[in-house]
Amino acid sequence: MSDEIERIRIYGDPVLRKKAEEVTEFDGNLEDLANCMTETMFANESGIALAAPQIGVSRRVEIIDLTFGKEFDNVLTLVNPEILETGDEEVIEEGCLSFPGIFEDIVRPKKIHVRYQDLNGDVKELETDTFLSRVIQHETDHLDGILFVDRLSSVKRAMLDKKLRILAKEGVIE
Ligand code: CO
Repeated sequence: MSDEIERIRIYGDPVLRKKAEEVTEFDGNLEDLANCMTETMFANESGIALAAPQIGVSRRVEIIDLTFGKEFDNVLTLVNPEILETGDEEVIEEGCLSFPGIFEDIVRPKKIHVRYQDLNGDVKELETDTFLSRVIQHETDHLDGILFVDRLSSVKRAMLDKKLRILAKEGVIE
């Protein structure tokens, strides 16, 4: 895969429900994938993060641009991320490039401790209780085939499902 812009997979696409595969080769292909994800994210104004399944690649890679400033060199790439510890919960509104126009309040732990590998395969650890924590949790869910709407209460989920059926009819989602 070259570093071109890929189509963002929208809710309904089966790749979003697959458990993504562990990355074992830290080579040029992985770098190309990360670059492609970054280009694709930057092509979507509202995008601040992306997981590989969202461009149809079922591998455990996620990228995060927390500068909001579209700084290519400031993108954080997490390969094979593993969330080790979590703390108290908080509510934050989330959106997702795979759910155009959908924003929902989601409860998740505030603080996380995450272990991941960088593009060279070096193991890194990170502890955060800022917005970055929230984004890493959302993206790491993607690698397990979990979507943010799965974290809604059943009542709220039922309401959202109605909305999603309308969007599907309109062709906004699949
Ligand atoms: Co998402």
